[in-house]
Amino acid sequence: MVRRAAILGSLVAWVASGAAPRALTTQALGLSPAAAGDGPARPWAVVTGASSGIGAALARRASREGYSVVLHGRDRAALERVAASLDGASRVVVADLASPRGAERLYGRCKRLDVRLLLNNAGAARVKPFVGAPASDGGGSR
Ligand SMILES: NC(=O)c1ccc[n+]([C@@H]2O[C@H](COP(=O)([O-])OP(=O)(O)OC[C@H]3O[C@@H](n4cnc5c(N)ncnc54)[C@H](OP(=O)(O)O)[C@@H]3O)[C@@H](O)[C@H]2O)c1
Repeated sequence: MVRRAAILGSLVAWVASGAAPRALTTQALGLSPAAAGDGPARPWAVVTGASSGIGAALARRASREGYSVVLHGRDRAALERVAASLDGASRVVVADLASPRGAERLYGRCKRLDVRLLLNNAGAARVKPFVGAPASDGGGSR
């Protein structure tokens, strides 16, 4: 589990840095410049869970690729820090997706935008030592 998290962290840093091959990032993540368009009105990407980690990295990458970005999460201060780091326009939406009201709030703030890309990343990962974890947790020890 720890090794997998380390590999994932390295992958995120590589994608966020812009050094990863475009074939991997723009096609695999759907971040193609053609999708974003060349006109003055940038289409929108919605990134859920954009206040930290993978979501914040994806938001920065989408912004660099030509999208305006809806930054969603629960921590407004963290979302505003991510917004300040972007190249282009953004909109912060604070909503708890654990409740239907939160999902409706997010939808309400996005429905009039020209949204072309959804990076639905919000969630929680439990990271704990692999050795000693019960088999029911996906660990290998008995
Ligand atoms: N890192 C890993 O090793 C790993 C492995 C497998 C899968 N994943 C998945 O990849 C995604 C991102 O992981 P990460 O490591 O970048 O996690 P992270 O840094 O903890 O970020 C999680 C994001 O999800 C948001 N979030 C969590 N619960 C939410 C809720 N109820 N409503 C709205 N927003 C919520 C958080 O927002 P606030 O902090 O603003 O509340 C935060 O922006 C998660 O879905 C995770 O399960 C990660």
